[in-house]
Amino acid sequence: MPSSRHLVDRLLAGIDFVDARAIVELGVGTGCVTREILRRMRPDARLISLEINPEFVALARRRFRDPRLVLRNACAGDLPRILDEAGLDEVDAVVSSLPLRIMDQALVDRVLDVSRACLRPDGRFHQYQYSLSHYAKLAHRYADVDVRFTVRNTPPAFVYACTGTDGRAPVPVRLRPSVAAVYAGALSAAHRVLRIVHGS
Ligand SMILES: C[S@@+](CC[C@H](N)C(=O)[O-])C[C@H]1O[C@@H](n2cnc3c(N)ncnc32)[C@H](O)[C@@H]1O
Repeated sequence: MPSSRHLVDRLLAGIDFVDARAIVELGVGTGCVTREILRRMRPDARLISLEINPEFVALARRRFRDPRLVLRNACAGDLPRILDEAGLDEVDAVVSSLPLRIMDQALVDRVLDVSRACLRPDGRFHQYQYSLSHYAKLAHRYADVDVRFTVRNTPPAFVYACTGTDGRAPVPVRLRPSVAAVYAGALSAAHRVLRIVHGS
């Protein structure tokens, strides 16, 4: 399911599109986030989008004929090389739709590290997830991790907005609004029940 309009709005909230000159997108899929970033971006800004599935890359090439878009069929872990080829030292924001929970966790660590390393000091890392499984990994890398929640997506989703590349946010999660806390609790209980049922 592509992300809903509401989730895309949440994901992009807080990014300064007026001043941003370079933005990275990880995980293009069918392009709903790509389209909205391009719509909001400056005429002279660049969007570097990485997608590992060649069929989605081909689809995006057909859908977006925008000279500001640098689209690569590449793994998010290759971000430093892609930025180097594009002549970029740092970027204003990294927007990730990567499925962190089902990815190899060594790759997740690499992606989170290289994303933080390429951000300007006041840059932002935004990510959505259907659970809060990766809050701690983000909190270990950023000074502030703001968690938002929307039920207006299938399934409901959490959005992390991470800032402060030189610090560590406090763990555990401070959730706003409380419906998100109830949802996260129910989700984690459901995961525990499933693990017991499947004996893992
Ligand atoms: C949940 S989809 C999100 C698609 C779209 N951005 C959206 O929000 O609807 C995640 C996308 O990440 C891509 N992906 C998964 N692992 C990746 C990786 N290591 N590097 C780049 N893209 C990856 C998948 O192929 C998929 O298109």
